[in-house]
This record gives sequence, structure tokens and C-alpha cells, in this order.
Amino acid sequence: MTAADAAVSTQVHEPNEFGYRSFTLGQFQFSRDEYFAYVSWPTGQHVISADAFLRALQRDIAWEFFYGIVNFDGVVGTMNHYGSVDLFAGRYNDAYRKAELDHVETLDTPVIKSVFTAMLSDWTNAGFDPFASPEETGSAFGPKHGDNDAAISRHRVTAQRMVSLAGDEPLRSDENGHPVNRMFADVEQDEPEVHAEPGFESEVGSFNLFAYLSRSPVTWNPSVVSVCRDSLYCPTTEEYILPIIHGNDRAEWFVQLTDEIIWDVEDRDTGRKRAKVVMKAGDVAAMPSDIRHQGYSPKRSMLLVWENASPEIPELISSGQFPTQPVEF
Ligand code: PHB
Ligand code: FE
Repeated sequence: MTAADAAVSTQVHEPNEFGYRSFTLGQFQFSRDEYFAYVSWPTGQHVISADAFLRALQRDIAWEFFYGIVNFDGVVGTMNHYGSVDLFAGRYNDAYRKAELDHVETLDTPVIKSVFTAMLSDWTNAGFDPFASPEETGSAFGPKHGDNDAAISRHRVTAQRMVSLAGDEPLRSDENGHPVNRMFADVEQDEPEVHAEPGFESEVGSFNLFAYLSRSPVTWNPSVVSVCRDSLYCPTTEEYILPIIHGNDRAEWFVQLTDEIIWDVEDRDTGRKRAKVVMKAGDVAAMPSDIRHQGYSPKRSMLLVWENASPEIPELISSGQFPTQPVEF
């Protein structure tokens, strides 16, 4: 674990001519205008489309910086050390590294989280939902107009044991504001019957995962629906492009439950292309721990992401005690 620099300065600046505030995080500067987000650091500057930037920023915050690396694109991103976070530019980009133009700031998690949260709130206009598919939300562009704080602070599903159990995450329904998505109109909505032996009522449960996912209002947002020690089932519904390029610090298993996702797989540290994986309904893939990946889903699809959340895994892999690949064929 890397200790964060004690006194990384953070600043929020007055709104610019387009109505958007700028933010300073150590030696990084963030600003936006009508179309773009701009990131600068002592040895470089970078520009990202505002909609793509906000979609990535939203996930980085909602997932508490996730497992390993969240690349906003091939240049800018964060690396989670679970307590502190590296904010980087060019760190996992071979050309920037070779030219020595990369830059990293290590920040305590609450520090970067609070600045990122303020930036997301200030830069998200009324009508734009960074979690929604492009077909189901408005535009991110233009001068600042309003906000969408209700959407960007929505509850993230993290079951303690399993969705639907007493006291745990509830099922979704029309009544609690979760209508069936337009692309999942054909998904059966019946629920399994459970007949527990007397005395075991609280220990046996079951729910219709497909029905549950058909009612998800968001895309590319794995939710924890069941937990068995470190084993987390994190299914998600996908449409258009995963807004981050995820650099793993552990292996991840993917089970394509419906439809199709195309994955671009690259070397985690350099960005060198490694594979293109086309996953069709029923396909299973083990993504190694030394890659990064980004998915493309032409239609809204259901994907099961299976994570092992053990805090020991990154160290076991980086010290060579665990293989980078979870399975040999
Ligand atoms: C991943 O990086 O493994 C990932 C992230 C979000 C998703 C699906 C997969 O929705
Ligand atoms: Fe991943």
C-alpha cells in the first residue's frame, strides 16, 4: 500500500465563462467547457469528450475506485490502493512512459473522492444521467444548466447476503420505480416458489435474476446481488460502451447471460493489444489479472461479473505467488 502525500492541495475555483468550476488536485487541473473536459499536469495536457468523462467519473466514484485501475481512456485514470488512490496521466501508456511525460499523485481516498464528487455534481447538467444508455438520457453538452444530483447519487445495490432475503436488498417492481427496460420486454417476470422446512425459512431464498436485471435502470454498473465470503456475484446490464477501460488487479470471470458483448483486451501496463473476445449468450471467460478491458454491447445485454474480493489477492499476484491466469487450458 502506498501512503498518500500528507499535504496534497485541493482547490475549487470560480465558475468560468461557460458556468463550470475548475478543480485542482495536487498538480492536476481539471476544467470543462461546452463539449470537453480538460486535464493538465506539469508535463502534459489532455482532452476528453465531456459525456465520456462524466460517465467514467461517475463509475469511479460510485465504485469507490473499483478493483485496480479505472482508465478514463488510454491516458488518464486512477489506481486503487484501498485507502489511498493514485491519480495518473500516462502512467499505463507506453509512449508517455518512454517520453517520461507521465505523472502520478497519490491521494487519501476521502480527498480524491470529495473533489471528484464535487466535479461530477458541478459538471453534470439537468437531463444528463451518466449511468443511463445514450438512448435513454439527454445531452451532457452546452453551457452549464441545472444539475442531476438525484441521478448521480443513486443507491448502489450491495447485498449483504442475497437480493430478496429479509432485511437485504429488495426485489425490483413497477411499484418501487423499476419498470422493465424497453429491450427486456420479453423477459419472464415470475418468481420461484420457496418451500422451506420449518425452522429454515430465513436460510433458504431464491429470486429470478433475469427479471431483476430486466428492471435495472442503469448500464455498466455491476451490483452485488449475492455474497459467499469473498465470492461476489455482480451482474449488470450493458448497452453501448463500458465508459472505462478496467485494469485488473485480480482475475475476473464473465458469464454472458444474454445477447453479445465484444471485449477489447490490452496489456494492463502498456496498452498493447492482446485480444478481441466476442462473448455470446452462454459464453464464459476468465479475464487475467494483467490485462485491461473495455466492452461494447450492441444491444442491452445481461452480464454476470464474478469477483473474488479478497484483499490479499493483489499482493499474492504482484509477488508472483498467484498466477495471472486463473485457469490453464
Ligand atoms: C469490468 O471491468 O470488469 C466491468 C466493469 C463494469 C461492467 C462490466 C465489467 O459493467
Ligand atoms: Fe474488469
